[in-house]
Amino acid sequence: MPINNPLQGKIINLRLVSTEDAEFILSLRKNPLLNQHISSTEISVEEQKNWLRAYKSREELGQEVYFIVENKAHHPVGTVRIYKIDPGKNECTWGSFILNENRPENSSAEVISLSAGFVFDELKLQKIKLDVRRENSKAIHIYEKYGFKRVAEDDLDYYYEMKRESQC
Ligand SMILES: CC(C)(COP(=O)(O)OP(=O)(O)OC[C@H]1O[C@@H](n2cnc3c(N)ncnc32)[C@H](O)[C@@H]1OP(=O)(O)O)[C@@H](O)C(=O)NCCC(=O)NCCS
Repeated sequence: MPINNPLQGKIINLRLVSTEDAEFILSLRKNPLLNQHISSTEISVEEQKNWLRAYKSREELGQEVYFIVENKAHHPVGTVRIYKIDPGKNECTWGSFILNENRPENSSAEVISLSAGFVFDELKLQKIKLDVRRENSKAIHIYEKYGFKRVAEDDLDYYYEMKRESQC
């Protein structure tokens, strides 16, 4: 799948991950200020690199797209991932959304608009799905503000969708 890399926003870019990003990704996933509502991890940098190598095959096959969020000076400030890309069902799942303390102000709005635009305009899919822990009130606020609609819930999570026509 040919991907315009990076996707350019006004304050951040989304660029495809490489195995060299393993340490940065782990710095996010192991940060106690950021991992309260995501599954934490004990893996090593080498294990993360191996995961990224396997991911790159999925990227080649058009199954998954993992972006590093970087500021305009090209310093990484976060991640976002589009996975379970299913052209048959016209949908994908959106996740691994993490921004660290160096993010420019209002990054989350641009991460959502760039990545949703990529899903709808480049991948030509109709629907983005995501799930979020019920207690992650900040992420929920952001998802609802930028166009995701709650469609289901269980004891642990809320489930959201954004359809092509409702994109902000
Ligand atoms: C979720 C995350 C990416 C959001 O990015 P961010 O840059 O911190 O968010 P922003 O500064 O853009 O948004 C802050 C907004 O949330 C609101 N907010 C802050 N804390 C909040 C809270 N506890 N409850 C509800 N809303 C809250 C702010 O008022 C602001 O709203 P506004 O834009 O309407 O004024 C970031 O906090 C993060 O990485 N969290 C850890 C990982 C995570 O939980 N990811 C989501 C997994 S589903």
